[in-house]
Amino acid sequence: MSLQAIKFSATPEVSLSILNQLQVPYQSKYIAIDSIAPLPGVTKFSGYEAIKGMYTRGAPAIMLVGCFSIVVELNRVLHSDIGSAQQYKYNLNDAESFKRRLLERIDELIKSRPTAVNLANGCEEIKKIVVSEKNSDLELLYNRILQFSENLYKEDYQSNINIGKNGLQYIKDVLKKENFKGPFSVMTICNTGSLATSGYGTALGIIRHLHQYLSKDKSTDQFYFEHAYPCETRPYNQGSRLTAYELQYEKIPFTLITDNMPSFLIDNLNRKEQHTNQGALASLASNAPIRFIIVGSDRIVKNGDLANKIGTFQLSLLSKLYDEIKFIGAAPTTTIDYNTKSGEDIKIEERPKDELTMVLGAKMNGNSFAEDKESKDVVLERVRMAPLDIGVWNPSFDVTPHQNIDCIVTEKEYLVKDSSGVFHL
Ligand code: MRU
Repeated sequence: MSLQAIKFSATPEVSLSILNQLQVPYQSKYIAIDSIAPLPGVTKFSGYEAIKGMYTRGAPAIMLVGCFSIVVELNRVLHSDIGSAQQYKYNLNDAESFKRRLLERIDELIKSRPTAVNLANGCEEIKKIVVSEKNSDLELLYNRILQFSENLYKEDYQSNINIGKNGLQYIKDVLKKENFKGPFSVMTICNTGSLATSGYGTALGIIRHLHQYLSKDKSTDQFYFEHAYPCETRPYNQGSRLTAYELQYEKIPFTLITDNMPSFLIDNLNRKEQHTNQGALASLASNAPIRFIIVGSDRIVKNGDLANKIGTFQLSLLSKLYDEIKFIGAAPTTTIDYNTKSGEDIKIEERPKDELTMVLGAKMNGNSFAEDKESKDVVLERVRMAPLDIGVWNPSFDVTPHQNIDCIVTEKEYLVKDSSGVFHL
């Protein structure tokens, strides 16, 4: 079983709810989504708000929540009383006007988070269905969009499993070629697991595969996976809150580090003959060298440049300094943007200052999260960690150039560059 970020059901009632990831790992609460985008006084909580507000996050999960929110809104408009259509400003008596309204709502949704291309890719596919549906039967249109979204969900899960397999294969091929023996570790950033997808995960899916098929007791090779190092992932802490939670849940051995520790850690683990600091090394759970940095992606463009969580680029620079560390970008093909030539043209989302200066955490009661006596909810507190009224820069993503990437793993294959350094995506 894996953690479930998205719950969608088409029968007996159409319903969509998402795990409120702002509150993970403190508590697991689901929130229902009733619309594509907010309509004051009409909707309670929309896909747009869930995505923009980071209640749900991770490129594939954003796409799936976005597409399902379209299904939910259409269901309301078509299947509840006539008032709903009016409130949502759809004209049920004119199919063309209905479609125009739907396209307008989808365009609004796409704007919620601009860097992750999966949402735009999924929504553009739905827009094609809307435009191509010549029949004025709106029920038919609804069913096609429902089917598309359900398939997307199923395909995403299967893609994750295949990314896991292909990533595992790449890692085995590299280590065999180098005649590597013994334990190795991997590093990752952000959260790319079940919570960021339909389930299982991309980069974290590869780590799950390593644990499942290449840990000491499972490996049939002379090498084995021993340890994972997730970076905390400031400012939003997807690494410490979500990835640490998933790794713990999956019982995968790991040690959490902050985003400014990778160089010191790698220097200690990988410079076997001449450790910079034996003392620091002694307190680590594993001494296995880091051989792979495995990251997810929000957008991979035509030349292989990859946008991912801020902090990814610096990890790629580090891997360049160490010949033996391979940098892997893992993503389903829904993350590929064939229309953009290179990373310079990727729009980088800038997020609110508060994300950097404030943090949401749980109040503690001894070694447990403190609960409110009546509601039994965990008591959450937002605290500030910086002076008031200061300048803050908060780009959510950075771009890793293809020159720094050794391998791109998709559900179809693992891709390495040709002899002239070009990825053929
Ligand atoms: O801001 P987030 O949490 O949505 O950022 C997520 C990432 O950067 C992930 O690495 C990426 O979306 C891939 S998730 C499988």
